[in-house]
Amino acid sequence: MDVSSEDLVPLLEPGEIRARVAELGAEITREYRGRDLVLVCVLRAAVVFFADLIREIPLPFRCVFARAASYGGGTESSGQVELDLDVREPLEGRHVLVVEDIVDTGRTARAILDAIEAHRPASLALCALLDKPSRREVDVPLRWRGFEVPDRFVVGYGIDFDDRFRDRPGVWMLP
Ligand code: IMP
Ligand code: MG
Repeated sequence: MDVSSEDLVPLLEPGEIRARVAELGAEITREYRGRDLVLVCVLRAAVVFFADLIREIPLPFRCVFARAASYGGGTESSGQVELDLDVREPLEGRHVLVVEDIVDTGRTARAILDAIEAHRPASLALCALLDKPSRREVDVPLRWRGFEVPDRFVVGYGIDFDDRFRDRPGVWMLP
């Protein structure tokens, strides 16, 4: 598909996202105060959300980066999730919060949660900026979500279509 930026349809304004990220940060801060918190950023698309969210969490925490890939450059998931978790940071007995860009079919989140569960954290929860519940194939416990979005392919705020549009400040739908 050949998409130019003039074809993108606006979905979420930068200001709306900023306000929601601040709310999520405040809730997460209340939940994890006094706990040994590890935040997991799911590369690559969650990186912008992660960078904004961590600045709304005034607690001591450690960051871990996990790489997950399921899209081969189109708009349909391959169904296979390739996962690379940085295991140098011990997770056992710690409170782990996974930060995702979108939960779509749920396969990526499921694979990440299963991989982390094997490290026996004290608790494990998932936070995603966007949730497409109409697309769910695998059940995942989504503790915090920024916005529910329709069954449309979205880009912007770190989220890409074949590596494009990550730099867009808001969230947009492909035509
Ligand atoms: P899932 O495994 O089907 O839940 O897909 C999760 C991953 O697919 C997300 O972390 C995104 O990186 C990617 N993805 C799902 N929907 C979209 C979309 O609308 N735009 C861009 N990437 C998407
Ligand atoms: Mg992703």
